[in-house]
Amino acid sequence: MTSRILIVGATGRLGRQFTRVLSTDLHEVRALIRAEPSSAERDEVLEQLEASGVQLVEGSLEDEQSLERACEGVTEIVSCVDHRPDHLLQQAALARAAGKAGSVRRLIPSQFGIDSRLYGEARVDHGDAKRAVQKELANSGIPITYIHTNGLAAEWVGSLGQLGLREPPQGQVEVYGEGDVRFSTVAVEDVARFGARALFDPAAAGRHLLIAPPDNLLTQVELIEAWEKKSGTSLERQTISREALDERIARLAADPASRPALAMAQLVRAAWLDGLGDGRRLPDVLDAVEAYPDIEYVRAIDYLDRYR
Ligand SMILES: NC(=O)c1ccc[n+]([C@@H]2O[C@H](COP(=O)([O-])OP(=O)(O)OC[C@H]3O[C@@H](n4cnc5c(N)ncnc54)[C@H](OP(=O)(O)O)[C@@H]3O)[C@@H](O)[C@H]2O)c1
Repeated sequence: MTSRILIVGATGRLGRQFTRVLSTDLHEVRALIRAEPSSAERDEVLEQLEASGVQLVEGSLEDEQSLERACEGVTEIVSCVDHRPDHLLQQAALARAAGKAGSVRRLIPSQFGIDSRLYGEARVDHGDAKRAVQKELANSGIPITYIHTNGLAAEWVGSLGQLGLREPPQGQVEVYGEGDVRFSTVAVEDVARFGARALFDPAAAGRHLLIAPPDNLLTQVELIEAWEKKSGTSLERQTISREALDERIARLAADPASRPALAMAQLVRAAWLDGLGDGRRLPDVLDAVEAYPDIEYVRAIDYLDRYR
C-alpha cells in the first residue's frame, strides 16, 4: 500500500465515483459514513463499498473527534460533501483534523462546479460558501487541490441546459437569452479520473484545476439541436430573458423553502447568461486536459446517447 485515502461523501454522486476509481491495489480507501437512518438504496451503496474493500468509519463533518479518528494515518483526502453551504463550510474542521493527523499530503475539498472566484458576492449562494472555505483551508498547512468542473453532464447535458430536469424535456425547452453562450460539461466518472490523477500530482499541490474538455464546450442551442437530431424530435423553444430569470431568482430568494431551486436558477444565469463556464481561467488555474492528455473523456454529444 502506498496511500491511505479518506473519502468524505462516499455514498454521494461524486464520492461514489472517486471511491471506485481510487479503490485499486495501490491504495487503501477509507470512507467517513454518517449514522443516517437506513434506506434500501443507501444500504446497497454501503454494501457495495464494503464489498470493494473500502473501510467504513462512522462520523460526520459536525463531529470533530470523529474526523480526527478518520484522519489517523491517512495520506490523502477527497471531500465530495454536497452543496449545502453549512456542509461546505464544515470542511474547515476536516482540514483541522487532517493537520492534527500529521500524515496528510493532499486534500481535495468539495468544489466541483464553476470556479466560485468568478462569481460576484451573492450571485450563487453556495458559491459564496465554496469561496469562503478556501480562505479557511489556506491556513490548514495541508496542500490543497481545488477542482473546478463547470457543469456535470448528468445535470446539464441530460436536461439540455434546463437545470433540474433529469432527462431531456419533451415538447418544450427553456432557452436562456439567445442560447448562444458556451458552457463546458464533464461526466462525473471523468471528474473522478482527472481528480484521482491530480491527487497524486505534485504539480497540482496548492493549485486550482479546471476540467473543461474543449469538445464539451457547447451553447445551449447546439445541445438542443444535437438532441433533436439524435432523437428525431423537435422542441418548442421558450425564451427566458435575463430580466425574466432575474425576476425568478428574486422570487425564489424570498422563500427559504425554495433554496435548491434558487441555486439552480442562479447557476443557469452564471452558465448560460454570464458565461462563467465558457472555458475562462484565472491565471493560477491549471488546465486538466492539457496537464493529463492521456486521460480520455466522454464527449457531451455522445453523452446524449444515454437518453435515447
Ligand atoms: N457542477 C455541477 O453541475 C454539479 C452537480 C452536482 C453536484 N456538484 C457539486 O459536487 C459536490 C458533491 O455533490 P454531490 O451531488 O455528489 O453530493 P450528494 O450526492 O448529495 O452526496 C453528498 C455526500 O455527502 C455526505 N454528507 C452530507 N453531509 C455530510 C456531513 N455533514 N458529514 C459527512 N458526510 C456528509 C452524504 O452522506 P449521506 O449518505 O450520509 O447523506 C453523501 O455521501 C458538491 O460540491 C456539489 O456542489 C456539482
